[in-house]
Amino acid sequence: MSSLPHLTRRFFEVALAKDLSGDEMSEVAGWLKPDLLGLFVRQQVADQRHGYECARRILDEDPDRTDLISAALLHDIGKRHAGLGAIGRTFATLAGLLPVPTTGRWSIYLDHPALGAAELFDADADPIAVAFARHQDGERPGSIDRESWRLLRLSDWEGP
Ligand SMILES: [Fe+2]
Repeated sequence: MSSLPHLTRRFFEVALAKDLSGDEMSEVAGWLKPDLLGLFVRQQVADQRHGYECARRILDEDPDRTDLISAALLHDIGKRHAGLGAIGRTFATLAGLLPVPTTGRWSIYLDHPALGAAELFDADADPIAVAFARHQDGERPGSIDRESWRLLRLSDWEGP
């Protein structure tokens, strides 16, 4: 569920996102196998930046949880299919909160968890990456333990 503060923060994160530096991209390349790195770099800059920041927040919280990095980096890869910028994403999210049908790119955007999860499954990503992409906005699935879920949600929702 999106709150107004969350929506506002994400708007500015998307609008002002900076490309990953060479060093940051080298880190990502060290974390992901080639097929998954290919998916990562096809994302918009804002989603690359967001995924990277999520991975860093997990490592800041628990440096031993390198097993969660691919899930953090790749959980929003489905968003690229909608091709929306900061304003379009905000309107799509607001539309998703209303009891009205959505179509076109807004509908694709709102379906990004399932789209991303299907791509990750096809790319043979870790099961936890597939599961987090699919369930990121919902309830914890039984396949993700409570501590992993806490870290992943913390990284996604409570960043600076
Ligand atoms: Fe996210």
